[in-house]
Amino acid sequence: MPSDSTPTRIGMIWAQTPDRVIGADGSMPWHLPEDLAHFRDRTHGHPVIMGRRTWDSFPERFRPLPGRTNIVVSRRQQSADAMRAAGAVVVPGFQEALEAASEADGLDLIWVIGGATLYEQALDVATLAEITVIETDAAGDTYAPALDGQWTRTSLEEHRTDSGTGYRFERWERAQDDHEDHS
Ligand SMILES: NC(=O)c1ccc[n+]([C@@H]2O[C@H](COP(=O)([O-])OP(=O)(O)OC[C@H]3O[C@@H](n4cnc5c(N)ncnc54)[C@H](OP(=O)(O)O)[C@@H]3O)[C@@H](O)[C@H]2O)c1
Repeated sequence: MPSDSTPTRIGMIWAQTPDRVIGADGSMPWHLPEDLAHFRDRTHGHPVIMGRRTWDSFPERFRPLPGRTNIVVSRRQQSADAMRAAGAVVVPGFQEALEAASEADGLDLIWVIGGATLYEQALDVATLAEITVIETDAAGDTYAPALDGQWTRTSLEEHRTDSGTGYRFERWERAQDDHEDHS
């Protein structure tokens, strides 16, 4: 991780239904361009860390996500070679992902962009969560983590699409525990 002289914040970002569904059958069970723009706006210029299945969920023409160092966590050597050839930084674990991110541009803020397995691993080190809640009852098989009482919602923006779908951008923050050591 970066030295003490380089303040780095770790954020998580996802979109979910009110029931915390984030994925279904390897993709997201909605299409909300406003959320994709929000995601791009928040993450552009910063390293993004994702699990291999999330990388797989992006259409080939959209990956690596431009303007961001794309760090993919995977244990599979064979798919790692293909992902590297496509432009990803591939690492064998979450700690290695944080180390790779600490060498990338925009390291003042490192984003964990999913999926569920990566959010679970990031919960203890992240202090920021940008969550889009979409008013849909879409079913799914992958869920966002629950944020416990250490987290406080610090911002809320409510919106509605032209077709009437409600969605809101929520920011949640957690005070950094002085005793945490992630080196
Ligand atoms: N709504 C949203 O905002 C959002 C955001 C992101 C993703 N999603 C959705 O979430 C789903 C994917 O999430 P997921 O939880 O199934 O998968 P994931 O977290 O994207 O990827 C899981 C894979 O990451 C690798 N991995 C994870 N932890 C590792 C570790 N500690 N060490 C080494 N490798 C590790 C493994 O890859 P290998 O199998 O290659 O070893 C594992 O199979 C999709 O439906 C996607 O569309 C939604």
